[in-house]
Amino acid sequence: MSQLFIGENLIHLRNDRVSYLIHILPGGVPMQLYWGKRLNAMEPASLLRHHNIPGDGSFSVQGCALDHVPCEYPSFGLGDLRHGAVTVRQEDGTASCDLRFVSAEIDTEKQPLCGLPASYGKEQTLRLTLRDELLGLKAVLRYTLFDDCDALARSVELINEGTQVLALERAMSLCMTLPTRSWDILTLSGAWSREREMQRRPMLMGECSVSSINGASSLQASPFLAMLSPEATEQQGEVYGFSLVYSGNFYAGAMVDQHRTPRVMLGIDPDGFGWQLEPGQSFQTPEAIAVYSREGLGGMSAQFHTLCAKHIVRGKFADQPRPILLNNWEATYFNFDHEKLMKLATTAARVGVELFVLDDGWFGHRDSDNSSLGDWVVDKRKLPGGLRPLVDDVHSLGLKFGLWFEPEMISPDSDLYRAHPDWAIHIDGRTPIEGRNQLTLDLSRPEVCDYIYNSVAAILAANPIDYVKWDMNRNFSNIGSAGLPASRQRELPHRYMLGLYGILEKLIHRFPDVLFESCASGGGRFDLGMLHYMPQTWCSDNTDAYTRCRIQYSTSLVFPPFAMGSHVSAVPNHQTGRITPLSTRGNIARSGCFGYELDLNKLTEEELTEISGQIAAVKQIRNTLLYGRFYRLLSPYQGNDTAWITVAQDGSEAVFTFERALSVSFCNPPMVCLAGLDADARYRIEETGEVYGGDELMYSGISVPLGYGDHTSASFLLKRI
Ligand code: GLA
Repeated sequence: MSQLFIGENLIHLRNDRVSYLIHILPGGVPMQLYWGKRLNAMEPASLLRHHNIPGDGSFSVQGCALDHVPCEYPSFGLGDLRHGAVTVRQEDGTASCDLRFVSAEIDTEKQPLCGLPASYGKEQTLRLTLRDELLGLKAVLRYTLFDDCDALARSVELINEGTQVLALERAMSLCMTLPTRSWDILTLSGAWSREREMQRRPMLMGECSVSSINGASSLQASPFLAMLSPEATEQQGEVYGFSLVYSGNFYAGAMVDQHRTPRVMLGIDPDGFGWQLEPGQSFQTPEAIAVYSREGLGGMSAQFHTLCAKHIVRGKFADQPRPILLNNWEATYFNFDHEKLMKLATTAARVGVELFVLDDGWFGHRDSDNSSLGDWVVDKRKLPGGLRPLVDDVHSLGLKFGLWFEPEMISPDSDLYRAHPDWAIHIDGRTPIEGRNQLTLDLSRPEVCDYIYNSVAAILAANPIDYVKWDMNRNFSNIGSAGLPASRQRELPHRYMLGLYGILEKLIHRFPDVLFESCASGGGRFDLGMLHYMPQTWCSDNTDAYTRCRIQYSTSLVFPPFAMGSHVSAVPNHQTGRITPLSTRGNIARSGCFGYELDLNKLTEEELTEISGQIAAVKQIRNTLLYGRFYRLLSPYQGNDTAWITVAQDGSEAVFTFERALSVSFCNPPMVCLAGLDADARYRIEETGEVYGGDELMYSGISVPLGYGDHTSASFLLKRI
């Protein structure tokens, strides 16, 4: 159970495993005292003594030098020489902000954040109110520590109670100070088709950060970082993990200061951000999540995965088996008609697929990616009877039907653009910069959001559609809105996100039976924010099994298997040209939301039989694959082999997966130590009938026989007996 104690100058949030302590300094500055393993004493005197902050004579507030203080919500210019969490400019042009303690109160349960995605739960929430008397600015810092995972949710609301317009230039979601010792930092950075590569390096003095200013949480970096003790491994060592429940521009960074103390901050990237806060108005930051683990990166991921499952994902699919799908994109691209799609769907039904997804190209006159986004009207050349006959025909095969949209975009060659050129994000006088031949709609404008909502809702209302793939395929450029005054142009990127979240909230409530999958040129918006609306995200356009080992391995640092869309595609792979065995493609893809993305009618009968077998097997074990506890065993970032295991929540079975990138000749089979099993239980390996103790499998290991050639793999189902 989480507990919240408010003493005279001390606040203690804790659950059964971790504690977070805040001390209010005599001048009213709230300081972070501790974040780590649970402390028994509610008011630990030793911590208070230890943090007796010295004054250094020159920069001090009521006797303490703020540069030494691990402030909860610091700002620059009061003696703290580090980057602050908040910058507020007054009408006279100066920027200083001095937030002091007003009150600490308790909400009996966690409240939603206005207009933004956020974690949910029944846990008590601390409301720490601070105020700058000169500005008349109030800051409400919210903290929720969950019962069932060691995750602390934090956000900040800034309220203008003064008389002047305050310009917010920086408003971070979280600022946290870590103990003064050595740390490594781990971030996830990448590119299209190479999303979320793991980057671990020692933290030195100075700053290390990842960020996005392209309008989305991005392909290039993820809103995540972890600080690890240098000796921390997958299983052992102290790890502080951080992420944002947000899908737009972000900053996630750590800075080691002159006193060798690291400060971590996450929030909207200040570059390109600004907000005019009128008297009486408030600004809500996105929510940030901090998790704590003493069991290495594996322990950190377990906290994030529980958070995703219990406090982020909503709706009827949150804990349901996800349908095995066939997507027509790599099978047909834009070149299809009713008959061709039905041939695909018929074969899909024959091999056991459950959901047929029609991807891009069904609307306007879209024969390539250079037209029609915004015109959500069926292309009668390809589907003469419209969508409904196709949906009905697919349903009559016993399959569900899914449809692709890219609603946030507008093609210059579209009726929508011809009617409303100013609905695109643009700057007057500048030639529009196209990305994938398209422009971005200006979701800071309510009429544009209404258009998007109405277009998608009309199609979902008129057709019994079971699944939507919601895509977004370009970065922001020429960032200007025809709907905002000059003084508010810097608000556009965040207002865009608020517009998008508003549309999604309305859609998922109106169509609760539709399964939504988020996509952004692959995994370009894979974040906790989108996961709040859509329970699965397309991991990457790169479906090559070898690359997917890396991408899914690193994605699992934060996200559980049920969040990751992963499909078997054709060989040679369309992104890498690599040829991998069908068995390996199946083994890797089934470690997430499973599906196929290839022309089944081009396969041999033998291959179709193998696919039927893959699908039948997944149907037996998908609850374990999707919702089991996921343990990474061997890292593709450290060697030739990748391995992981998912263990059913009730411990009754586990699925082990192994891939070897390049074959090694004249070598004994690898022995892989499993994890997450019951050391005292016995397990039967279904594929071989062999029986082993959980202790043997975890401490001695399992021998993995491998076939001949590169990219061989193995997967075993272990049943507890
Ligand atoms: C993006 C997606 C793909 C596919 C195409 C369609 O690239 O990531 O999966 O839907 O768009 O244009």
